[in-house]
Amino acid sequence: MASSTLLAPSTGRSRFKTALWISLGLTVLFVFITSEVLLVTDYPMYHAYRLQVIADRNLLIPHTLAGTIALLAGPLQFSSRFRQRHLQFHRVLGRIYVICVFAGSFTGIALASGRPGLPGTSMQAAAWIVCTTAAFITARNRQIVQHRQWMARSYAVTFTFDSSRVLNLWPRYWSHLGDSPSAVGVIAFTLASLLLVDLGLNWRELTTRRA
Ligand code: HEM
Repeated sequence: MASSTLLAPSTGRSRFKTALWISLGLTVLFVFITSEVLLVTDYPMYHAYRLQVIADRNLLIPHTLAGTIALLAGPLQFSSRFRQRHLQFHRVLGRIYVICVFAGSFTGIALASGRPGLPGTSMQAAAWIVCTTAAFITARNRQIVQHRQWMARSYAVTFTFDSSRVLNLWPRYWSHLGDSPSAVGVIAFTLASLLLVDLGLNWRELTTRRA
């Protein structure tokens, strides 16, 4: 009885982590099919955007590569079991993640420069760089609790690539969203992602009263 009570919180947490990673994975798959595959197959609604993507290919290829590596590194880096067994690999992949975030941010800003989306993209890039740098510094300082928290914030910004594209197939959203609302949307998605992570990180304190 006592041992099952002791096990309960960690079992609950690991179930939550599994459910979270499954839903993030399904979101990535959904966005990959409804945004990226339809972009490649020249879906009529995306035609004008497709021409822009083709024109931007020199920046978009390194940007997509960096973003994809950062996105895929997440599940491995956050896995406690993987970290315990392969600490050296965790460190190497962590450094690659940091480089990818910087490369993804600067190519993202370059892609948006001269366009109405620049303020939104700059704010998103700033949040991405600040959270990732804080995660790197706390790791170097062996402040592991804080390192994990900053990595969760950093990955939330990485994930805005997917979360902000979930509504793309909805024609009203796609065709009526002007330049300014799009820029505000990017900032809103970034802010909402960071707030959600912080609510999650403080969940116990928010739901439990101190004795
Ligand atoms: C998981 C991380 C990311 C990946 C895999 C990724 C990948 C891509 C891809 C494939 C495109 C072109 C096709 C499309 O729009 O769907 C794109 C466009 C773009 N991305 Fe990213 N990206 C990521 C994160 C970011 C972040 C954090 C920023 C902001 C700094 C950013 C800024 C941009 C910009 C400005 C464009 C140009 C098109 C537009 O204005 O929407 N990306 N990205």
